[in-house]
Amino acid sequence: MTEFPTRLLITSAIPYINGIKHLGNLVGSQLPADLYARFARARGAEVMFICATDEHGTPAELAAAKAGKPVAEYCAEMHDVQADIAKRFGLSFDHFGRSSSQRNYGLTQHFAGRLADAGLIEEVTEKQVYSHADGRFLPDRYIEGTCPNCGYDRARGDQCENCTKQLDPTDLIEPRSAISGSTDLEVRDTKHLYLRQSTLRDTLDEWITSKTDWPILTTSIAKKWLHDGDGLQDRGITRDLDWGVPVKKGSEDWPGMEGKVFYVWFDAPIEYIAATAEWADANGKSDADWRRWWRTDEGADDVRYVQFMGKDNVPFHTLSFPATIIGSGEPWKLVDYIKSFNYLNYDGGQFSTSQGRGVFMDQALEILPADYWRWWLLSRAPESSDSEFTWDAFQTDVNKDLADVLGNFVSRVTKFCRSKFGEVIPTGGEFGPAEEALIAHLQTGLETYQTHMTNMDVRKAASELRALWVAGNEYLQDTAPWSAFKTDPDRAAAIIRLSLNLIRVYAVLSAPFIPTAAASMLKDLGDAPDEWPVTMTEALEMLPAGHAFQVPEVLFAKISDDNREAWAEQFSGTRS
Ligand code: MF3
Ligand code: ZN
Repeated sequence: MTEFPTRLLITSAIPYINGIKHLGNLVGSQLPADLYARFARARGAEVMFICATDEHGTPAELAAAKAGKPVAEYCAEMHDVQADIAKRFGLSFDHFGRSSSQRNYGLTQHFAGRLADAGLIEEVTEKQVYSHADGRFLPDRYIEGTCPNCGYDRARGDQCENCTKQLDPTDLIEPRSAISGSTDLEVRDTKHLYLRQSTLRDTLDEWITSKTDWPILTTSIAKKWLHDGDGLQDRGITRDLDWGVPVKKGSEDWPGMEGKVFYVWFDAPIEYIAATAEWADANGKSDADWRRWWRTDEGADDVRYVQFMGKDNVPFHTLSFPATIIGSGEPWKLVDYIKSFNYLNYDGGQFSTSQGRGVFMDQALEILPADYWRWWLLSRAPESSDSEFTWDAFQTDVNKDLADVLGNFVSRVTKFCRSKFGEVIPTGGEFGPAEEALIAHLQTGLETYQTHMTNMDVRKAASELRALWVAGNEYLQDTAPWSAFKTDPDRAAAIIRLSLNLIRVYAVLSAPFIPTAAASMLKDLGDAPDEWPVTMTEALEMLPAGHAFQVPEVLFAKISDDNREAWAEQFSGTRS
C-alpha cells in the first residue's frame, strides 16, 4: 500500500439551503466525506474538512418567500438548522461555511476579474425567458420541459436530472414555468457574462485523461461533456436576480452588469475556498493559515485534495470549477481525486426534496441515533450503481450487523468477564494456536480494510469491517470460554483478555463509520486509547491485565417488526 497522504483537503458538495436534506443527499457526499476525513485523521494525516450551505439562486429565494421571511434571514436560520443536524449526524467538518459570506463575495469577484483579464469572459446579449404569469424572468431551473437529449419530460432548464446533460432553458422542448406551470413565456433580451470554457477544452481533456485512478463514474461523465455533440459549451455565469454575489470585476464595478448577480453554480464551488477562509476567521487564524491549503505557492503543494459528490454534480466539478481555477492563471489547488456517487432511491421510487418523499435527516434522528443510519447508508452506498433504501433491508442489516454481530460480541465478552473475573481485564493463561490463527486472520483483514478505506471503496470497507467483527464472534464460538472456565479458568482468562482488547480494536477501526458507539466503547473500556492498530499482535495487548472496564449499556437495540411497520407507514407519504 502506498503511503497515506500527510495533508488532506476534503470537501463535500455543499447542500442547498432550501430545506433539510434527505438520506439520499447525505450518502452522496457529506457522509462518505466524513468517513474518509475520520479515517484520515485516525491515520495521522493533517485534515481540513470543509462543507457549507449553498445559499444563492432561486430555490433559496422561493423557499424564503414560502416561509414568509426575508431571504437573508431565512438563509441564516436554515444554515444553523443544517449545521445542527450535521453535528448530530457526527459530520466532523472543520468548518461549515456559508456561500453568502463576505469571503465568498470577495473570492468570487476576484475569480471573475482574473478570468476577464485573461480574456475568458464574454459579454453576451442573450434571450431570457420571461414569464407573464409570474411577472419575472425565470431562472434556468424554474423552467421545465422535455430534455432534447433523452426525452425525459421533467428536465430542468439547467440540467436534465435523468441523463445529467447540462442544458440551457431554450434547449427544452415545450418549456413551462416550474413556479406556475404557465406556458405563457416570452423570450426577452438581457446582457450576461459567459465563461469561455470551450477554449479550455483541450487543457481540461488532458487533465481528466491524466486521472487514470479516478472512478469511472467521474471520468465518464466528464468525458461525455467534453466530447458529446459539439463538445464543451461556454457557460452563462450571471443571472437577473436580487439574491447572490453582485457582479464585479475584482473590486471594480462591471459596466452594464448593474443589478445582476453571479450564477449560483459559479460561486458555489468557490465557497470551498471561501469556507476555508471563514474557518480561519472563526478560529483566529491568519490568511496564511488557510492559504496553505489552497495556494500551491504558499504551502499547498503537498496537499492532496479530494472531493465528494453525487453524480449530478460531476460536470461542475470536473469542468466548470477547474475552468475557473485554471483560467485564473493563479496557482490555486486543483482537485486530485473526485469520488462520486450514484443515487440512493427510496422504497421503489426517488427521494425527493420538492415532493417531500423519503426520510429526511431530522426525521431519521428522531427515530434512531446517527450510527444506525451511518452504518446502513455507508454499507449500502450507491457506488457502482444506484441503490435502494427499504425498511426491510434497514431492519435486517441493522439487526444483523450492529446488534447480532458487533453488539453481541461486546455484550457477551464484557458480561462473561464481569461474572467470572470482575470488571477488570483478567490475568493468567497464554495465547495458543487459536489466538495465533485469529491474530493472523485479523492482520490480513486490517490491511484489506485499510486499503479499501484509503481507496474510498466504501462498501468494500464496510464489508471488510463486518468480516472483522464476525471473526471475533467465531473465535468466541470456537474457543467457548464459558466451557473452558469450568476446567481451565486460566484458559478462559486468556480468551477474554484478548477479546476485551479486541473490543478496543473494533472501536478504533469502526469509529469512522459509527463514531458515537465507538467512543462509548472506548469510554466503557476505562478510557482506552484510540490508537490505530499497526500490528494486531501489539494492538491486542494494549489493555493489560488489571485494567478496569465497565459493562456497557446495550450498544445497538434491535429494530422490531412493529417499529419497522410503523415507520414504513409513517414515511409512505410525503412531507408537507
Ligand atoms: N448545492 C449543490 C447540490 O446540492 C452542490 C453544490 S457543490 C459546489 O447539488 F461545488 F458547487 F459547491
Ligand atoms: Zn436528459
